[in-house]
Amino acid sequence: MNEVLKTIKSRRSIRKYLPQQIRDSEINTIIEAGIYAATGHNEQPWYFTVIQDKELIDYMSQRTKELMSNESIEWIARIGRNEKRHLFHHAPTVIVVSGKQNAYSPLTDCSAAIQNMMVAAESMDIGSCWIGLVSYFFEQEEEVKKLNIPEGYKPFYAVCFGYKDTSIKVAVPERKTDIVNYIK
Ligand SMILES: Cc1cc2nc3c(=O)[nH]c(=O)nc-3n(C[C@H](O)[C@H](O)[C@H](O)COP(=O)(O)O)c2cc1C
Repeated sequence: MNEVLKTIKSRRSIRKYLPQQIRDSEINTIIEAGIYAATGHNEQPWYFTVIQDKELIDYMSQRTKELMSNESIEWIARIGRNEKRHLFHHAPTVIVVSGKQNAYSPLTDCSAAIQNMMVAAESMDIGSCWIGLVSYFFEQEEEVKKLNIPEGYKPFYAVCFGYKDTSIKVAVPERKTDIVNYIK
């Protein structure tokens, strides 16, 4: 199997990180991989906010969980009430990926960038985890202001990055089969 395929297959969502910060050069490489994703109409309609302020990361986790705890969907409320849970798994770097609202396909484009970024991180043995639950925080206009995202951009997702704590074995979630039809 070639290196690209190996990296794609070995990437896992990492939920335990070492506290040590990753290098700026590694973050630049990860973002560069993101901006080489395909985009509708080549609009490249994204904006990346790199957060390494632990206080802000912890605040975003706490505030999101507070909002989640009021949710009527039980599994979400349960995560919100779980005192041990950190929304960003205590990762030292969180990148918020925002999309230009009036672009052709911003959510798809940002998602393509995120996948590239996570695969690039894995190629450098850096752990990552895509965080969708942060949407509860993003729904709060006043909270989003704290992130200084430019006018016209909407935050879609956050992604955690950090060196993996390898004392935890990460299981490979089984992939569904019977999901392909060939029409020849
Ligand atoms: C859109 C999206 C949102 C996700 N949100 C979260 C999240 O909020 N928290 C989390 O720990 N993992 C989150 N994940 C990670 C998935 O749980 C994970 O990708 C899935 O279980 C498969 O595991 P793998 O990434 O190790 O292959 C998200 C993934 C995607 C694509």
